Amino acid sequence: QLSKIDILAHKNAEALLGGGQTRIDAQHTKGKLTARERIDLLMDEGSFEEIGKFVMHRSKDFGLDKEYYLGDGVVTGYGTVHGRLVYVFSQDFTVFGGSLSETHAEKIVKIMDLAMKNGAPVIGLNDSGGARIQEGVVSLGGYADIFYKNTLASGVVPQLSAIMGPCAGGAVYSPAITDFVLMVENTSYMFVTGPNVVKTVTHENVTSEELGGASTHSTKSGVTHFSCANEVACITNVKQLLSYMPQNCEETAPMLPYEAVGDERRPVLDTIIPENPNQPYDIREVVDGLIDADSFLEVHKNFGENIVVGFARLAGRSIGIVGNQPAVLAGVLDINASTKAARFVRFCDSFNIPLLVLEDVPGFLPGTDQEWRGIITNGAKLLYAFCEATVPRITVITRKAYGGAYDVMNSKHIGADLNYAWPTAEIAVMGAKGAAEIIFKREIAAAADPEAKLAEKVAEYQQKFATPYRAAHRGFVDEVILPSQTRQKLIKAFKMLENKVDVLPRKKHGNIPL
Ligand code: COA
Repeated sequence: QLSKIDILAHKNAEALLGGGQTRIDAQHTKGKLTARERIDLLMDEGSFEEIGKFVMHRSKDFGLDKEYYLGDGVVTGYGTVHGRLVYVFSQDFTVFGGSLSETHAEKIVKIMDLAMKNGAPVIGLNDSGGARIQEGVVSLGGYADIFYKNTLASGVVPQLSAIMGPCAGGAVYSPAITDFVLMVENTSYMFVTGPNVVKTVTHENVTSEELGGASTHSTKSGVTHFSCANEVACITNVKQLLSYMPQNCEETAPMLPYEAVGDERRPVLDTIIPENPNQPYDIREVVDGLIDADSFLEVHKNFGENIVVGFARLAGRSIGIVGNQPAVLAGVLDINASTKAARFVRFCDSFNIPLLVLEDVPGFLPGTDQEWRGIITNGAKLLYAFCEATVPRITVITRKAYGGAYDVMNSKHIGADLNYAWPTAEIAVMGAKGAAEIIFKREIAAAADPEAKLAEKVAEYQQKFATPYRAAHRGFVDEVILPSQTRQKLIKAFKMLENKVDVLPRKKHGNIPL
């Protein structure tokens, strides 16, 4: 006869084993960690408190009345990361393949409710065969309950999804609604319908990895923001990401202690922009020159590479950076770049993270592909996201600021607080050659030497408009500054803006062009 205390000890030990040692070994053989090992990696040591450890499913069909596991395939609870409260759910693949039952879903919803009431991030570690097939619609209902909570929590607390195994069918829509998705290379995949169904319906032969692995989603679809080499790297990435965020929408991100380095001038920045305006350079060099050492966490690194977005620190302050990337497609805005940056801007605005925009944009990408796939609607997302953002917003025009893209990239006109330009800035409706060919068309055609005339007119246009000064005369640019002074200026400016209050007109919600 076991004592009551022994019974509890037995149950606790049973819960820790999930689906049993054999399945734990199988998980390890696949190169994967267990749900609990992942939580141990994530949380500060000894900080994790489990909730719902003894929850079991209530199904009776298809033999489930004879198969029960304490916890029902998901470990949920709270703890701290870098000393700050977070809530976590970690799906346990060793229990019915981590599949989602009614009770499994209830556990997830329970910690999401706690997270929203107490204002702390939710981290989902996903590893699941999808809906618990034996349960049918009850399980689907569970998914919907989670999607609904994800949506209500969106913009209230940060929500992060790490995909560390399968995530297929309806299951994908919870991560999709959350703020950031991270995937582990080679051991995780996400798709709405798997390779078998794809083959039946479209006759395409594709592997799980090709269809929905980390490399696919980090480059082709943009579904994942981070592709991580392994599970440990993935969890380290989650922790790093959290460090730039506040706990909830009412707070600001933690400031790190910072000691000024001399006068904060950065002479290296004076040497980055090439003499020839058509020559590319890497905007990341500008980012690195501006921010605190090694503080850039790039988001969506391999997707829509003609724009660079990510978190960084400036004198200890957490900021979001959006920069056109002249090294890829000359830094044009296209559909992927626009949606990528728009989502990032909205995240930063939701969670009070100030925005720094580095602008070198020749315009929008022309062509039937872009027009037919809706560059108009998609470009408008970025415009809308900036217009609506009420966080401190600063733009630095490093070189080109042409056409509609000038307006879109956090221009003064759409609510930026401070707009700086480097002496290399060219702010105009279009490039000088194109402009001269249009407005001096007749004059050039009538000239004895049309080539020479064109060159003369290009030079004239360039001299007048391919500078920051016209914009500065109007006050659209607040100051023309040396690249080397930029860090100094930004540190002061973000401090000046730290108590900014800007209230949007009362409405139910806006209607961003989706
Ligand atoms: N419901 C109930 N049990 C499930 C399940 C689900 N959706 N998915 C997996 N399982 C169980 C399996 O029966 C197996 O149980 P066992 O340990 O008692 O043998 C265990 O989880 C592991 O699954 P297995 O198929 O052996 O693992 P795998 O790594 O070879 O394959 C999947 C993983 C996810 C690809 C595969 O299990 C699968 O296709 N599952 C169904 C996916 C699906 O269609 N879900 C419903 C739509 S949302």
